Amino acid sequence: YTAEIDNTAIDKGTYPFYMLKEIEEQPLVLRRLQQKYFDFHGNVLLDDTLLQEISASERIYIVACGTSYHAGLASKAFFETLTKVPVEVHLASEFGYYTPILAKKPFFIYLSQSGETADSRQVLVKTNQLGASSLAITNVPGSTLAREAKYALSLEAGPEIAVASTKAYTAQIALLSILAYAIQLEKEDSQLNLLQELTLVEEAMTQVLTQKEHIHQLAKDFFRDTNSAFFIGRGNDYAVSLEAALKLKEISYIQAEGFAAGELKHGTIALIEDGTPVIGLITSEVTHLHTRGNLEEVKSRGAKTLVISETTFAQASDQIILPKAHPLLMSLVSVVPTQLLAYYATLERGYDVDKPRNLAKSVTVE
Ligand code: G6P
Repeated sequence: YTAEIDNTAIDKGTYPFYMLKEIEEQPLVLRRLQQKYFDFHGNVLLDDTLLQEISASERIYIVACGTSYHAGLASKAFFETLTKVPVEVHLASEFGYYTPILAKKPFFIYLSQSGETADSRQVLVKTNQLGASSLAITNVPGSTLAREAKYALSLEAGPEIAVASTKAYTAQIALLSILAYAIQLEKEDSQLNLLQELTLVEEAMTQVLTQKEHIHQLAKDFFRDTNSAFFIGRGNDYAVSLEAALKLKEISYIQAEGFAAGELKHGTIALIEDGTPVIGLITSEVTHLHTRGNLEEVKSRGAKTLVISETTFAQASDQIILPKAHPLLMSLVSVVPTQLLAYYATLERGYDVDKPRNLAKSVTVE
């Protein structure tokens, strides 16, 4: 099987790097997902048997690697909230060798941009042998995972060329939100108008993209000359912190870590020195005050803090303000400035954004 690629979709156009093009395509990808998975009346267009199977399952296992794993983590909360089915998110390379005790009626969701990652595939082979049902969500229809899972859905993100994944991550979260919403509708009425909320997310993303030059300046100030950085947040902001740190590491070679904001003080705070950048993500009603407290702690130990906050919880000194979107979907918005920070940090440090050393777009060995 050879995946078909539309050549116009892989033209860099006037962009210096694919990564920037792909970051900027995110609102469009969100739109495409809405068009593909909703009809004109706002009904979700997903296979009924798929929805019923997931809905009747006892536990959902999301299995993935790298950025796709992080997309799973960022989706767990809304997936559980909407479907009322418990969700576990696992690294494929761990799950394969230490399989947890499975629920009697498990359902597996494989998240993979390429659909070819060997670590994820080896778990799929195993769960197929166990007779468990599965869905592969990939950006490449006809890829190995898409063919070998019982069900497959496509991310509609268009070819992702830059090694550092951006639009596939947001497409995965958005598609999982549509899936979770459709499962909820199988069970009960929803308070949520997801189609409308996704449109708002799309607008919020577009608004963040207009802050590009400002974010470039911040990347220069914070990351040009540093060797390490920390991203902190709680709940979904923690999940996004992990992805933000991975993005920065992958392409700028800055040693970056994402931390649960409350956990930093239990050890890692020892690493904070004068001028260490700590980036705080603040988008949640429930946790914003606590994360602020943690930022104060690191500041008093010399950290240079950069705050990315949703407008409702913003303070005058915060450097990046995000428009409001539905709380369950905020990670789709808050990740965008962190992608831009990684991109501009790498430009400033003079590395090849699209082709970082030692990394491959798709890893087909375990
Ligand atoms: C590779 C890439 C990562 C990616 C991971 C999982 O390591 O460099 O960017 O997140 O594989 O890839 P997948 O195609 O399964 O999402």
